[in-house]
Amino acid sequence: MIETDQTALVFKVGTNQKLYQSYLGTSLKPSDYTSLKDGQHEAYQSAGTDNLFEPAIQVLQADGNPSLDLKYVKHEVRQLNDHQQTTIELKDPEYPVRVLLILDAFPKESIITSAVTVINEGKEKLVLKQFASSMLHMDAPNYWLTQFHGDWASEMRMDEAPLTSGIKIVDSKLGTRADMYQSPMFYVAKGKQASETTGDVLAGTLAWTGNFRFAFEIDNSNSLRIITGINNYSSEWPLEAGEHFETPPFIFTYSNQGKGQASRNLHDWARNYAVLDGKEPRLTLLNNWEATGMKFDQQKLVNLFDDGVKLGVDLFLLDDGWFGRKYPRDDDHTSLGDWQEDPKKLPDGLGYLAKAATDKGIKFGIWLEPEMVNPKSELYEKHPDWMLKLPNREEHYYRNQLVLDLSNPKVQDFVYETVDKTLSIDKRISYVKWDCNRMMTNTYSPYLKNEQSKIAIAYVRGLYKVLDRIREKYPHLPMMLCSGGGGRTDYGGLKYFTEFWPSDNTDGLERIFIQWGYSNFFPANTIAAHITSWGKQPLKFRTDVAMMGKLGYDIEVGHMTEKELAFSKNAVATYKELSPIIWQGDLYRLLNPYEQPQAALMYVAKQGDEAVVFQFDWNTEMRNKPAYPVLLQGLDAGRQYRVEEVNLMPGGKSRLSENEKVLSGDYLMKVGLHFNGRNYASSVVKLTTN
Ligand code: DGJ
Repeated sequence: MIETDQTALVFKVGTNQKLYQSYLGTSLKPSDYTSLKDGQHEAYQSAGTDNLFEPAIQVLQADGNPSLDLKYVKHEVRQLNDHQQTTIELKDPEYPVRVLLILDAFPKESIITSAVTVINEGKEKLVLKQFASSMLHMDAPNYWLTQFHGDWASEMRMDEAPLTSGIKIVDSKLGTRADMYQSPMFYVAKGKQASETTGDVLAGTLAWTGNFRFAFEIDNSNSLRIITGINNYSSEWPLEAGEHFETPPFIFTYSNQGKGQASRNLHDWARNYAVLDGKEPRLTLLNNWEATGMKFDQQKLVNLFDDGVKLGVDLFLLDDGWFGRKYPRDDDHTSLGDWQEDPKKLPDGLGYLAKAATDKGIKFGIWLEPEMVNPKSELYEKHPDWMLKLPNREEHYYRNQLVLDLSNPKVQDFVYETVDKTLSIDKRISYVKWDCNRMMTNTYSPYLKNEQSKIAIAYVRGLYKVLDRIREKYPHLPMMLCSGGGGRTDYGGLKYFTEFWPSDNTDGLERIFIQWGYSNFFPANTIAAHITSWGKQPLKFRTDVAMMGKLGYDIEVGHMTEKELAFSKNAVATYKELSPIIWQGDLYRLLNPYEQPQAALMYVAKQGDEAVVFQFDWNTEMRNKPAYPVLLQGLDAGRQYRVEEVNLMPGGKSRLSENEKVLSGDYLMKVGLHFNGRNYASSVVKLTTN
C-alpha cells in the first residue's frame, strides 16, 4: 500500500503470484483498506504473454524469446527522511530479468512518484523495447483527458476531451527537450469533468528532459490504463549482462477536490523536493534580449545596468551575442561552441562587466547555450565528430545549428568546462540562463557507433551528468532553464534549476493563458515572467501578468515615459513585498480565461493571514454585460481581512468597490470582490490581517 494524506495506491498479489492494482484514489480510513477487492488489473503488465493491450514493459530475451512474465517476489518499505519508499520486486520465473517498482510516497504533499529499474541478471545481452515508469488503472463510465500542447510562442494550450475506446498517445520525439508540440503533463478526470474545486482527478508529469510518451487506453471493459515514461520510439535499449536500466520518475497526485488541490499538492512537493532551492527567494532581473538582441557593446551594457538599478531589480542578465572571436556572434548563424568573449563587443571581457554591475549595486548573469554548435564556429572545425548528424546526408539545421553529442563523455567534459570556465572568469557572475534552441533531427551519434537507438536516452543522461557536476561545484547558483521558449519544462531538469522560461511569447494577454497552463503543474517561483514590448496591452496589464510568476524585465527602460518608469519602480518594490506569498503561498485559480474574457487567481500565505489576488479583464465587446464579482478561496472564514488594491499607475484609482475595507474571509469567499472597468483592466489586491 502506497499512501499519502490524500492519495493512495494499493497493490495485491494474486494466487498466481502476479501483482495487481486494487485501488487508486483518495486515501481511505485505515480499516477500509482490508475491505478492498482483489485487483483485476496487472500492476506492471508485460508484453508477449497473455496481455492483449498496451504493455508497460517489453523485452526481447537473449535467445530471441519476445516475452516477459513478471511474478511478485517481495517488497520492502523504507522510511526515508520525510517520505516513504516502497520497492516491489518482480521476477520472470523463466528468464533472468528482475524488475523493481520503486514508489515514493510524500505524505504531506500527497504526491507519489513511480520509477522502475530493470535488471539483466543473465549472462547475455537482452533488448528493452518498452520501459514505462508507471502503469495506472482506473474504472469509471467516463474519463476526461486534459492535455497541454502548443508550439514555439504558444506553449501550454489546454484542451479537454473525453477519452474514447482505443488508445490515445500524447508524446514527443524531440530528443533534446520534452516539450514543444505536446507537453509532458496531463490530468485525467474520472467519471465526469473536473473543475478547479470539484471532481476526481489524477494529475501527472514525467521528470525527464527528453522524449516522453503517455498512453491512455480504454479496453473492452471500459477500464482505462495510463502508461507513462520515456518514449520508446526509436529507442530500443540493449541491456548487457549484469546491467540495469533506470526509468525517470512519473510524478502524480490524486484529488477528489478538483484540479486546484492537485496543483497545490504538486507545488508543495516541487518547492520541498523537486526544484533547486524551492523555498529560497528568487532574483528579479533585467534581461537585454528583447531590448538589444545581439546588437550591443560594453558601454551599452553598462548603461543598461543603470536601467536595472533604476528599476530596482536584483540582477542584469546578459543574453545571447556576447561571444565568438574568429566568428563573432552578430546573428544566429555563427559562434555557438566558441564561448570566449567577442573582443570587439566586450574588449574588457565578462569580468569587467561583472565588476561594473556589482559596483553599481546590481548582480550580473550570463546566457549560455552550451549543448549546441554552429557550423560556422571554431568548435565545428576542431571537432567534426562531436555533433549529432547523419553521415552521407546533408546537414540539417534548425536555427542554423547542430546538437553536440552528449552521449560522448568528452563532449560532456566540454559542456561542463564551458560553464565552469565562464563562471570562473569572475566570481561575481551570479546567474545563468541555460538555453537549448533545437531538437534532434537527422540524428546520428559518432560516439555510439552501432548502438544508435540509445542516443535519445543517452543524450539526456549525458546532460544530467554534466548538470550533476555543475551542481556539485555550484550548488546554489540560480539558473534558468530555457529551451527556445518553453521547450524544457519538466521536473527532470528543474532538479538543477531554480526557474524556467515558459515561452518567448510575452504578450500580456497570451501570457495569461500560458502561465495559467503551467500553473497547473509548477509553482509561481519557477515560472519566469518578463515584462517586454510584446503585446499592445497597457504596461500595467503586462506588469500585473508578470507579477503572477517570477518577475523580470526585458524592455527598453529608456523608452518608458516618466510615469511608466515611476510605476515600474513601484511595481518592483511592491513585487518584492508580495513575492513571499506568490512564491510560497497556495494558489487558487478563480476565473478561467478559457471560459470568459477574464481571469483571476490568488495566492494565500500558508498561515492564511495574507493573500494576493490578481484580476484581468480584456472584454471589449461585452461592455454592457454585468461584471460578476470574483469569489475568493482559501481564506480563513472567521478572519477579518483588510482589502487594498496595490500596483496602481501613479494617480490611478482602484477598480474595487471594496477597496480599503475590512471584510471577513467568509464574506470575501461568498460575496467576493467587485472590479470595475473592462477593457484591458487589471488589478493586484493585497489582503492582510492584523
Ligand atoms: C531563445 C530564448 O527563448 C530567448 O529568450 C533568447 O535567450 C534567445 N534564445 C537567444 O538566442
